[in-house]
Amino acid sequence: MKKILLIGNGAREHVIAETLLRSKSGAEVVVFGSAKNPGLLPISSAYEVGNLSDFDKIKDFAKHTRPDYAIVGPEAPIAGGIVDMLKEIGVKSASPFMATGALESSKSFARDLLAKYKIPGNPKFKVFHDADGLRNFIEKDLSGNYVVKADGLKSGKGVKVSGDHLFTTDEGVAYAEQCLKEDGKVMVEEKFIGQEFSLMSFVDGENVASMPAVQDHKRAYDGDKGPNTGGMGSYSCADHSMPFLNASDLQDAHDINVAVAKAVYEETGVYYKGIMYGGFIAVKNGVRLIEYNVRFGDPEAMNVLPILRTDFSEICQAIIAGELKGMKIKFEKKATVCKYLVPDGYPDKPVKGVKIEIGDIPEGVKTYYASVDQRDDGLYLGGSRAVAFVGMADNLEDASAIATSALGSVKGPVFYRKDIGTKELIGKRVEMMGEVRGVVS
Ligand code: GLY
Repeated sequence: MKKILLIGNGAREHVIAETLLRSKSGAEVVVFGSAKNPGLLPISSAYEVGNLSDFDKIKDFAKHTRPDYAIVGPEAPIAGGIVDMLKEIGVKSASPFMATGALESSKSFARDLLAKYKIPGNPKFKVFHDADGLRNFIEKDLSGNYVVKADGLKSGKGVKVSGDHLFTTDEGVAYAEQCLKEDGKVMVEEKFIGQEFSLMSFVDGENVASMPAVQDHKRAYDGDKGPNTGGMGSYSCADHSMPFLNASDLQDAHDINVAVAKAVYEETGVYYKGIMYGGFIAVKNGVRLIEYNVRFGDPEAMNVLPILRTDFSEICQAIIAGELKGMKIKFEKKATVCKYLVPDGYPDKPVKGVKIEIGDIPEGVKTYYASVDQRDDGLYLGGSRAVAFVGMADNLEDASAIATSALGSVKGPVFYRKDIGTKELIGKRVEMMGEVRGVVS
């Protein structure tokens, strides 16, 4: 029986806890989160509410609960060094140390690493410390097809893409200058055309085992319209690939994760341990890297963990011990669809502090709570993604129908994307990828 300290309180952490608790040898989860998650509360044996950047409070909670190991859900505590700090008090984590967490917390670290170790997947890119050459790079080198990335953790809000958020060279230069003012550096890179997917891997420092690929949906509204969000929902397929990928694409993405784990160690002298989340894009002639995250994706965790058939607690222990090699990690051959209910006005002006009622959830649907606060008289919207419903089935259509069947059971000011996991939207993505590949010169 292992006691695990889980840091975080969203739907991702809810599914992490649920999966740990399926361990054959028994597991107990103690949670440090910034709010009372109604899904995590009843399945945890201790629950402390506090600021996730209050490392002293987390340390006191760890000293008091004496966990066998820890796992960190969100990126900010990893970037701040919580894993290093827990190690000082004798608690090891299945999450990365601060030095290796730079893969997510510094956009330029990841790009420079790929360039230095000759790992494929980088776009044309340049890190600027002042505005010198900025306009020329955007206009001439990238022919106006560019992405401006603020350095550091910005919860997805620091990335602006030409054609989507920025429409002229002037706008690109102005946003890059704003980033320079705020962070002292900014990265500008080539914009890729294709279909994005996430490939998350378990990494013990030297060995890398990949999970099924997942596609998230960033835009708030149907048809990929509206502002970018943390992710409105996601799907994975029974064959563990994506309908628009070639077999070699998936292998290439896995190989990049393998090469990056090795390069991180060579560069920092510290083993990367935990979940490595590669945000990839399939383009006309292969796979490219968009960015790295150093933790489970949210919502992607809700696609892969419910179909994990290997003991997750044993995987976490193997990550910590460097013993993933030879471990056969299995996922059920099921399609999954995750749909998030979010508050009206999300993401720009979300309704918060308003009560919602959750009625009967149809059988077969998995429910994960996110930004909802459990108070004495019920559940209140926290202002971000509220509840995720997951359907699992032999095919995507059925999985999507299962997830959708639960969405009407919530009463309150919330909405969701109707098109995630539907035949129509996936067909459009396959068609788009076909057009992109048809352009091969
Ligand atoms: N699905 C996007 C993220 O977890 O960052």
